[in-house]
This record gives sequence, structure tokens and C-alpha cells, in this order.
Amino acid sequence: MSAADRARAAMVDALCTAGRVRSPAVEQALRAVPRHLFLPGASVAAAYADGAVAVQHVDGAATSSASQPSMVAIMLEQLDLRPGHRVLEIGAGTGWNAALMARIVGAAGHVTTVDIDADLVAGTLGHLAAADVSGVEVVCGDGALGHPAAAPYDRIVLTVGSDDVWPAWVAQLAPGGRLLLPLALRGSQLSMALDLAPDGTLHSHSQRTCGFIRLRGMGASARPAVALPGGVALHGPDDGPAPDRAAVAAALADPGPLVDSPVVVGPADTWDGFGLWLALTDPGALRLVAGGPDSGLPDPLGPAGAVACAAPAGEDSGIAVVVVRDGPAAVRAYGPGGPAQARRMLAALEAWAEVGAPAAPEWRFTIVSGPPPPAAPPSGVSTVRMAHCHLLARLP
Ligand SMILES: C[S@@+](CC[C@H](N)C(=O)[O-])C[C@H]1O[C@@H](n2cnc3c(N)ncnc32)[C@H](O)[C@@H]1O
Repeated sequence: MSAADRARAAMVDALCTAGRVRSPAVEQALRAVPRHLFLPGASVAAAYADGAVAVQHVDGAATSSASQPSMVAIMLEQLDLRPGHRVLEIGAGTGWNAALMARIVGAAGHVTTVDIDADLVAGTLGHLAAADVSGVEVVCGDGALGHPAAAPYDRIVLTVGSDDVWPAWVAQLAPGGRLLLPLALRGSQLSMALDLAPDGTLHSHSQRTCGFIRLRGMGASARPAVALPGGVALHGPDDGPAPDRAAVAAALADPGPLVDSPVVVGPADTWDGFGLWLALTDPGALRLVAGGPDSGLPDPLGPAGAVACAAPAGEDSGIAVVVVRDGPAAVRAYGPGGPAQARRMLAALEAWAEVGAPAAPEWRFTIVSGPPPPAAPPSGVSTVRMAHCHLLARLP
């Protein structure tokens, strides 16, 4: 057994022990496909560590990576591939995930993988040949349009984040097919598995927390993150009025009091627990993420960033930011309008706790093409408008 084989076996053992790998098909594929051959520029140790490995940067930002093995395993379990399935992947990257999928669908199935970048496509082809993988067609194109030539697909998977569900993906799914994508929801991002119903709507089967780099090309976000002082990035809202950068920066330079909340918020809750709740129930919610350890703010923003309520314009400009501590959380008010925003945030925290502090897996989502109807949604249902569709979210 080579050092690479031993490292791969150890990686898969750890993924199984952690419960990331659940099915024999996913386990066998991860054991069989040599990830280091898809990362010729990385050491064997890096290729088999449980981390994403960036393979391309543009202006200092990663534009392609081999995704983190545990996230790949989680998504393969969500995808539920079967022998004979026809699969479209958007985001070929190194080709590692395409090779894993080809292994699972077998000779009777077929994998088409698309990347927008011709250099990456050339690399993908080379890696697949080096690993002696067959059954994968590699296409250079903009995945927002899918790949109609090989449709319909039993499964369509994006390994790159999107803030919309493009009509081509729905049109190219076979009846009863599944679309799996990292979907951005007002600053949160969920790996969402959606099953196609006969009426063309998509219904969530499962969702997991994730954080993927975003689509380039036609599907690039119309509302990229706004850079604030101290390396802080401001995300969202995607579908409401754009926040006023200068007003947000001015408010953050004016920290006010810290107000205690009785509600316990863990670090992960700012992403897919309370953070997701606020994003879905308060269209004006924002997310602040610090690029480095020193944001210049009085409270650390945490690895998942912090959620904020804001009225960032006019004389009452103000922001309230959730502060995660051991035990009950607090809310920091910023700017002259901060105390009013803090009251809004404290009420949202209590509302989240009252419904049992739900996290991402507990929500049920439906994607419907086109804009939402003018009538308000039924009580308990939140609507998020996207460019080509709208999302309905509810708790069961
Ligand atoms: C996280 S990487 C994918 C990882 C890959 N599945 C692997 O196994 O290595 C995301 C990829 O999406 C690609 N991408 C970005 N926008 C795209 C688009 N509009 N269409 C197709 N691919 C796109 C990037 O070039 C990048 O290679």
C-alpha cells in the first residue's frame, strides 16, 4: 500500500466515523478514487486532509477548489445516486467529484460535468485520464444554462453557490429528478436537495449548512458582498434595497450599549439557526463577516459571521448585531438608531426561541418558477424572491 493509499484510507475511515459517509456506495467511491491525482500541485497530506484545496485564484480570491471531503460526502449522500443514473454537474473544478459520481452510477450511467473556465476544463480532462476514469464528459460552458445536449438528467448537482434556480436546471431534470445546489439565502447558504414534482415545482428533501464559492458568468450574484473597514464584509439582503455602505460604516464606528438576551445562541446558530430564521423572517436582515481576526469592532464576529438588523439610512441610521457568548447571547447596538434595531433583534431572538430554535434541516422549502403572487403568503410561510423563481419557506 502506498503512502497515498494509506492516507486515503485514513481519510475515509474518519469520514465514516464522523457520520459524514453513510452509504456503502459513497464509501466505496471515496476509497477507490485517488484524490491526490486530481490535485497534482498539492502534497499527499494536503490532498487527504479534510479541507478544501484552492486550485485557482483571481485577484486574490479563490475561484476554484477541490471541495472539502466531508462536504463532498454530505452532498453525495444528499444526491442519492443509483447505478444507471444520468448526472449533470455544474462546477467541474478538479474533476474529483465527477470521478466519484461516475464510480457510483457505473458503466450504465453517465456523468456530464461543466466548468466555465477553459483552463480548468483542460486540467479536469488531464486528471480524469491520470486516474483512468471513464464515463465522464467534460464540457466548457456557463452552467447557468445547464447542458441541454445530454438532458434529461436524473440528478443535477452544483458544486458552486447560486442565489437563484435557473429555469434550464428545472427543464433539464427528468420527471422525479433531484436538483442539489448550494443556495444563497440572504447571506446564509444551504446545500439544498430539491425533488421535481409533476407540476414543475421543487420540494426540499434535505438541506445542510455549506459555504461554496459563487457562480461566475450569467449566474454571478447581482448583489456581491460590500467591503467595510476592518476587513468586514457585509452580505445581503439579496432581494431588498441595497444597504447604504457609508451609513453602515458610520454606524459601526459608533458602538453603543450591549443588551442581554435570555436566548442561548451558539456559534453555528448565527449561520443556519438564528441567522437563517432572521434571514427568512426579516427581509432587511444583514450578515457581517470579518476577513481577519481584527475587525476593529468591540465584539468578535465569530467564524460564521454575525447577523445584524439594520436601518442604515437617514438620521435614525443604526445597526444591532448579535453577540455570541457562552450561554445567553447579547445584542450590540451601533449608531443613533441602534437601540431601536436592538429591540427588533431581541424580539426576533425570542420569536426564534419560541418555535424551538430551529436549524437548517428543520425547514421545508418549495421553489416555484416566476415571481411571487401579489397576495401575501399564508401565515407561517416566508417568501424569498429570486431572479427566476421564488422560494417558500415554512417550519413543519
Ligand atoms: C468549488 S469548485 C468545484 C469543485 C469540483 N466539483 C471538484 O470536484 O473539484 C467550483 C467550480 O465552479 C466553476 N464555475 C463557476 N461558475 C461557473 C459557471 N457559471 N458554470 C460552470 N462552472 C462554473 C468554477 O470555475 C470552479 O471550478
